Amino acid sequence: MNVDRKIQTLDEFTIQQLRDFPGATGELSHLLRNIGLAAKRVNVEVNKAGLVDILGDHGTINVQGEEVKKMDIFANDQFTGVLRHGIACAGIASEELDDFVAFDDPKSVNSKYVCLFDPLDGSSNIDVNVSIGTIFAVYRRVTPVGTVTKLEDYLQPGNQQVAAGYIVYGSSTMLVYATRRGVNGFTLDPSIGEFTLSHPDIKCPESGKIYSVNHGNFFQYPEKVRDYITVCQHKNKSNGGPYTQRYIGSMVADVHRNLIKGGIFMYPGTTDKPKGKLRLMYECNPFAFIMTIAGGRATNGEIPLLDVQPTELHQRSPFFVGSSSMMDELETYLNK
Ligand code: AHG
Ligand code: MN
Ligand code: MN
Repeated sequence: MNVDRKIQTLDEFTIQQLRDFPGATGELSHLLRNIGLAAKRVNVEVNKAGLVDILGDHGTINVQGEEVKKMDIFANDQFTGVLRHGIACAGIASEELDDFVAFDDPKSVNSKYVCLFDPLDGSSNIDVNVSIGTIFAVYRRVTPVGTVTKLEDYLQPGNQQVAAGYIVYGSSTMLVYATRRGVNGFTLDPSIGEFTLSHPDIKCPESGKIYSVNHGNFFQYPEKVRDYITVCQHKNKSNGGPYTQRYIGSMVADVHRNLIKGGIFMYPGTTDKPKGKLRLMYECNPFAFIMTIAGGRATNGEIPLLDVQPTELHQRSPFFVGSSSMMDELETYLNK
């Protein structure tokens, strides 16, 4: 069989990027390779989730008499396990774990990165065969290498991210990640089991026609947000409206589409939940970073999202992210 050398795998790509930085240690490439490996394992299970007895509630017993793990827990275990056993991660924090986990083996304490993730985002969509995802953020630890990580390594503002990315388990499986040098997308080629570069140097279109928000909550949103949504629904010469509304309920899939096609995604606070639903550290910050590197923007409604100083691992935040000119338009309403 001829190997098509036009393709470039995730590993090849990250290693090639490293060549441009003579002093680089390769730790970040290693970490991304670990994430890719965990993603492939999760992908296998997600793909057969309809066939096997893995969808049940955590703690129930399947036909083999084994304890059934919810896919969220399965995914969490995969990412945690791979990062724990790799050499590039000093600790993790996850949506599925109350506290961060500092790895204390000799290899891990010598690593300079920590990783925060949502192992499975949109997991309520698995049962109905709709795209779901994984979201991750990578930070350089602030405590000295050689020691066990502390909370302060994890509670860094989003503007300190070294890399961030997501995997979308969709009609095909894609891994997209950003560093300060750019955003690149890799599609899993199942025939060789490799993520291969399919979307080099992704830029979010400066403007778009898609707005994504849960309309069911419309009357719970702040008035300024309602005003903006109403503008999205009207014919408007200056913005080419009315826009098209698209909302899957899997943020990974929603923001991925808007990143590629141009658009805005919003999860505002509501009267019941003023901080909204999404988690700052492993849902909002990674997407804010990716979108910003791709030329878009993100805010919590008050300040640039990436500038928010976190106080808790699992804190929630209102979230608005998208194409730069749509964000400008939104902000004219938010700042009124
Ligand atoms: P998770 O599955 O990790 O709990 O997150 C689901 C999130 C996000 O993906 C999506 O955008 C949002 O929940 C949808 O929430 P609503 O159903 O309230 O719109
Ligand atoms: Mn989530
Ligand atoms: Mn989740």
